[in-house]
Amino acid sequence: MSSNTTLTVDNKAVELAVKEGTIGPSVVDISKLYAQTGMFTYDPGFTSTASCESKITYIDGDQGVLLYRGYPIDQLAEHGDFLETCYLLLYGELPTAAQKADFDYRVTRHTMVHDQMNRFFTGFRRDAHPMAIMVACVGALSAFYHDSTDISDPQQRMIASMRMIAKMPTLAAMAYKYSIGQPFVYPQNDLDYTSNFLRMCFAVPCEDYKVNPVLSRALDRIFILHADHEQNASTSTVRLAGSSGANPFACIAAGIACLWGPAHGGANEAALKMLEEIGTPDRIPEFIARAKDKNDPFRLMGFGHRVYKNYDPRAKIMQKTTHEVLNELGIKDDPLLDVAMELEQIALKDDYFIEKKLYPNIDFYSGITLKAMGFPTSMFTVLFALARTVGWIAQWSEMIEDPSQRIGRPRQLYTGPTERNYVTVAQRG
Ligand code: SDX
Repeated sequence: MSSNTTLTVDNKAVELAVKEGTIGPSVVDISKLYAQTGMFTYDPGFTSTASCESKITYIDGDQGVLLYRGYPIDQLAEHGDFLETCYLLLYGELPTAAQKADFDYRVTRHTMVHDQMNRFFTGFRRDAHPMAIMVACVGALSAFYHDSTDISDPQQRMIASMRMIAKMPTLAAMAYKYSIGQPFVYPQNDLDYTSNFLRMCFAVPCEDYKVNPVLSRALDRIFILHADHEQNASTSTVRLAGSSGANPFACIAAGIACLWGPAHGGANEAALKMLEEIGTPDRIPEFIARAKDKNDPFRLMGFGHRVYKNYDPRAKIMQKTTHEVLNELGIKDDPLLDVAMELEQIALKDDYFIEKKLYPNIDFYSGITLKAMGFPTSMFTVLFALARTVGWIAQWSEMIEDPSQRIGRPRQLYTGPTERNYVTVAQRG
């Protein structure tokens, strides 16, 4: 459904089409604005800009709603598993039993990486950040899998997609093992996706490893929560990289690089470090004051969100999962959880946070859970990237298959020097 609106520029009325979505805000189509007015729109940070049309994920920031292909995140997290969510995001519908079995089989049969990847790792220092290794290794996959880099071939796009969904856990586990000096553990394909990942991370050759089903289910649910999130920074990076025709492995590597930032996927690592720095509930007021101080760059990590101006629905499920995991591990009173829950209570009653609509986001509780499971802080964003890979791929595929797709190339407001002539060194004084 569309209508028109009129914009007056330099006393000239310009008709612009208004397009309505199935739910959520309508858009004003400004694609012809420059041709009609010689002016650009200006929106640093894209706070009011829709970069694309999409059918994958819908967020209502005011209501705290998150839908994957129309299904509420809490229902998917409660009833499904991560590979079911992957199928839904990629194909648009929940799989039948037969479709799910086939999808699980296809993913499982791609979990190994080319054995020469092992040599790739030895080039890194042991203390390299695992995200640095992931950016490098995922980008390097295009050096091993030339038979699935032609993005014009749907079959090759599908194979590359399956390879990345299947190999991210293997590469993530290899990055972890390399950082602790333990031997790589190969995938064991009679295990489900997340159990396989836990075993690759925590098994050692000297003894049998039994996956804890409660922890595996909890981590699988955490992957569901992180799977996609509309046009966030890293997804927009993947779409922009893909719009140039770059191969899928390079696009996903670009997404991983963007996710690493502390304002985005790196917030789970930063949030845990913040909770450790606070240490005890009595120090919370000091940090709340710093977060409110305009002259202090400190922010409460795991708090606030560009879209959610209500509680992040994923944070609620994350908090419940945190308690489940700590109970299963017999951790009765985790000081970090005490600080987190007290900090949340104080912040949510503080006028500054109420006025700016700052609520805990998905990263606020995830670090406590992952640390309790045995992951080092440096692996938290790697796990986020592992889960988000399917979202990046679904969004990348949608962009490639969009007939109106063209290379993304924003313009600017130029405020630099006007034209001037070259001055030789002798004349420069
Ligand atoms: C993720 O986009 C996505 O969907 C991302 C994500 C996904 O699934 O892909 O949801 C994952 O990245 C979650 C967000 C994780 N980041 C953090 O937890 C880092 C801490 N949060 C902030 O850096 C911030 O809230 C952002 C980056 C998340 C959002 O930044 P915005 O939308 O640009 O908001 P802003 O920085 O303009 O803040 C608005 C106001 C500012 O005050 P004023 O300048 O208006 O006076 O709120 C303040 C900010 O100073 N503010 C905070 C704050 N976050 C915002 N003050 C204290 N602590 C904070 N955490």
